[in-house]
Amino acid sequence: MTIDVLISKEELVKRTKELGEQISKEYEGKEINMICVLKGGVMFMTDLAKELTPPMTMDFMAISSYGNETTSTGVVKIVKDLDDSIEGKDILIVEDIIDSGRTLNYLVHVLNQRNPNSIKIVTLLDKPDRRVVNVDVEYVGFTIPDEFVVGYGLDYCQHYRNLPYIGKISVLDE
Ligand code: IMP
Ligand code: MG
Repeated sequence: MTIDVLISKEELVKRTKELGEQISKEYEGKEINMICVLKGGVMFMTDLAKELTPPMTMDFMAISSYGNETTSTGVVKIVKDLDDSIEGKDILIVEDIIDSGRTLNYLVHVLNQRNPNSIKIVTLLDKPDRRVVNVDVEYVGFTIPDEFVVGYGLDYCQHYRNLPYIGKISVLDE
């Protein structure tokens, strides 16, 4: 198995900065309440947070739809809920990647029932070819083809999250 670089460390830094500037501008005068979807979104969230200028908070949620599989089972459950109420707040959900869309579709539905003022989504990666359910995403870092990727938070069987780039797994040599 080999891992080829799909998005370099430098490209990640550059794009995160751009997104930070854009989001900061659009939230001027408001507070950004970031909700990170664990565990994959954590590296992107911390880097993005450093590029934001408006006041902001962070909370974390863990949702499971995959287990250790690389394909969707369609089963989504809350593994860890938020610590704080989101009522009346402007919520920015931070995701690593949108694949089928099931995770975010479910999450937005659950969070909307808690009466936030607004919910927007920023995802580092988007695989639109794989979409099963529709999700409205305001900010996308990179649109990528239908490939399984790892690194910068994303895992394969809980490994490779620490790679400083986004890599593509190819199973050639067996
Ligand atoms: P969705 O519900 O199908 O959109 O699944 C989204 C979640 O699946 C992501 O937040 C990831 O945790 C995981 N996932 C989807 N595609 C990949 C991938 O290529 N590499 C690693 N994790 C992935
Ligand atoms: Mg995720």
